[in-house]
Amino acid sequence: MPRSLRSPDRVPTLRTARLTIAPVRSSDADDLEALFHDPRVHRYLPYERRLEPGGTFVARARRGVQEGTGFRFVGRRRDSGEFVISVGVFAIDRWDRSGELGYAVARSQWGRGYATEAVTAVVDWSMRRLGLHRVEARVQWGNAVSQRVLERLGFRPEGTLRDAVLSSRGFNDLRVFGLLADEWRRPARRRRVNLSGAGRRAG
Ligand SMILES: CC(C)(COP(=O)(O)OP(=O)(O)OC[C@H]1O[C@@H](n2cnc3c(N)ncnc32)[C@H](O)[C@@H]1OP(=O)(O)O)[C@@H](O)C(=O)NCCC(=O)NCCS
Repeated sequence: MPRSLRSPDRVPTLRTARLTIAPVRSSDADDLEALFHDPRVHRYLPYERRLEPGGTFVARARRGVQEGTGFRFVGRRRDSGEFVISVGVFAIDRWDRSGELGYAVARSQWGRGYATEAVTAVVDWSMRRLGLHRVEARVQWGNAVSQRVLERLGFRPEGTLRDAVLSSRGFNDLRVFGLLADEWRRPARRRRVNLSGAGRRAG
């Protein structure tokens, strides 16, 4: 098991062309709550997100770091500090070196390539620094935009979990996407996204 997965207390701040992507902290609680309570955003997210206070999310993020089971970040614009995205890897299995990817962008920032930019940085850190072998993402049927983000990064469709999630609209399928470390290392994966500085440690 890589040392990074055994002592996961060092979570970096990642920098991309337009974003600073820092570990979740208490001061992010209000922005996270506003994000997850927006119906256009939570439509395709796990049901409990829309009910929980931002502070609960922050506490879970902290626990994830302490236990080495999850690393959640908040991405803000470098120029204005404006909140853009919640993104992270969770459900980390240290033995299998696998984790699940999650992300959501503030409604006012959709369609500007921010998800692609931030998810690229977090996947790159997860594969190269944290030492994951496999990153998985589960997308509800109908969420074409999220699927497009994953496909652009090189995630491959691996199958469908039928009626795996219950929402206000009834049961829905989950499509599973996966990416392996070897596939990520191929340079074509990072096309069009400036990752200079990603992986630098905070402070
Ligand atoms: C999914 C989400 C994160 C995308 O964020 P974003 O910053 O707008 O995404 P990007 O701008 O990086 O990329 C969107 C891609 O989808 C494409 N797209 C936009 N609308 C589309 C549509 N209706 N069908 C297919 N593709 C679409 C865009 O063209 C772009 O691809 P391109 O760069 O090749 O042109 C955002 O919509 C969101 O937060 N949704 C709610 C939460 C969610 O669904 N999270 C993911 C759970 S698995």
